[in-house]
Amino acid sequence: MTRNNMARMPAGNCRVITLDGPAGAGKSTVAREVSRRLGLPFLDTGAIYRAITLIMLEKNIPAENSPRLRDALRGFFISFDGGRVLVCGQDVTEEIRTPEIDMHVSAYSALPEVRSALLDIQRSQSAGGLVAEGRDMGTVVFPNACLKIFLTAAPASRARRRYDERVARGEPANYGEILETVNRRDRMDSERETAPLRQAPDAILLDTTDLSFEQVVERILGYAEGARPGE
Ligand code: DC
Repeated sequence: MTRNNMARMPAGNCRVITLDGPAGAGKSTVAREVSRRLGLPFLDTGAIYRAITLIMLEKNIPAENSPRLRDALRGFFISFDGGRVLVCGQDVTEEIRTPEIDMHVSAYSALPEVRSALLDIQRSQSAGGLVAEGRDMGTVVFPNACLKIFLTAAPASRARRRYDERVARGEPANYGEILETVNRRDRMDSERETAPLRQAPDAILLDTTDLSFEQVVERILGYAEGARPGE
């Protein structure tokens, strides 16, 4: 068995690890691999915000506080099955990754009503520990996490990653448009009033621009081994 295949336990019982950062920094793939190697569940909170956006667009509910939006927020159930995302039992894994969802997700996720409706769903997943990725994991959702990482990379490298992902899925992709969407989402996610994208004061900043996937994963596993005991 190689070192990479071994499940590694973080020292000091560190059970909740958060990864925050802007779009396309590689959070999902990195968090998924870290969770696999540590034997902890993985929580992709962007998928939850994307699922909410899909629900609202299908119901034609605009991104503003309204009785219809509040009703819709009470009437859904999001669950995960392996790597699949389900809304009320229906698999929406592919539908939540379209350019249309990319365009609208920041507007819905800026609404305080949406964020508070999703808080309990996210926290309820952490009972046995987890690796959670998003924008406000270390600042708002899991402020007591024992290890917090803020993952970032130059915008061009993040747009390139999203472009490659889309090409790999056989979808049409335009690098210039993707870069523009990445920059626009960064702005909206960082400038919103509720739970903006921010590095928590106790988070470790990791710039992945010049690091390979494996190097990023190894660094985080190293930090987890040295993390203080905590939640
Ligand atoms: O990580 P992602 O690209 O799948 O996230 C989609 C959007 O969801 C992102 O533009 C902002 C929002 N989001 C958020 O506001 N808070 C989170 N914890 C996760 C995602």
